[in-house]
Amino acid sequence: MDPKAAAIFRDRGIDVDEKPGLTAAELAEIIGNYDGLAIRSATKVTRAILDASDRLKVVGRAGIGVDNVDIAAATARGVVVMNTPFGNSITTAEHAIALMFALARQLPEADASTQAGKWEKNRFMGVEVTGKTLGLIGAGNIGSIVASRAVGLRMRVAAYDPFLTPERALELGIEKVDLDELLARADFITLHTPLTDQTRNILSRENLAKTKKGVRIVNCARGGLIDEAALKDALDSGHVAGAALDVFESEPAKDCPLFGTPGFISTPHLGASTSEAQVNVAIQVAEQMSDFLLLGGVSNA
Ligand code: MLT
Repeated sequence: MDPKAAAIFRDRGIDVDEKPGLTAAELAEIIGNYDGLAIRSATKVTRAILDASDRLKVVGRAGIGVDNVDIAAATARGVVVMNTPFGNSITTAEHAIALMFALARQLPEADASTQAGKWEKNRFMGVEVTGKTLGLIGAGNIGSIVASRAVGLRMRVAAYDPFLTPERALELGIEKVDLDELLARADFITLHTPLTDQTRNILSRENLAKTKKGVRIVNCARGGLIDEAALKDALDSGHVAGAALDVFESEPAKDCPLFGTPGFISTPHLGASTSEAQVNVAIQVAEQMSDFLLLGGVSNA
């Protein structure tokens, strides 16, 4: 976590120990000494960790997803779990746009080929994004930033999001559609929704079959939103022209079936990995946790 987090805690009069890289057993051993636990994505706050924490009041996740925290167990113990939903939104949206361009112009393959001494100018015929339809699945914090960038790129944006109001769609300059219409019309699809029972496998084999032939798909949201085996088949058949995943059903992704598939691009969950976003989320989590601990009258650890 960026050192600014610890500085904020100390400025607010809260004692801080910085202990990156603890094993689960080491964390369980010491967690009983703390009122608050600030984490990024690697630390798993399991029921066992929570059971070992007598005085823990708050877990702060510097980032958006709280998949690494057992929320039910925390709630049962009265431990508040907070995230920073805004600090890395721009960064993640920019990564989605970067992957969209990487797909449109086959940048990773063209780079590898050129550096291998080939000069395959004819192999890498791309497509423009201008005038194309971007299908946005999820138009919340990150999705709406992607929409604004896409509108700036002169794309048409069609969004599927049950929570998107007509007024907000108008404000963003995008069209609210149902999922089937999005699948049928989109030249590019990008996902910006959490993984829930409703969104798991939203791009299932059946829904991938409903997409327009030649569609290009980006996922910088969560693994599990796309059926990876079905996506591989759709790439192999040529129905899907390209897919770029930053997130995977299983992470760290070491042997994903999509690896090596022509038209497939991957990054290792880099959506939030910019220096700006990491400072933002560190500051936000430290401020929120400090407010909570100090207003809650908790004595310093
Ligand atoms: C988040 O949930 O904040 C992003 O997916 C980034 C991350 O987990 O590192």
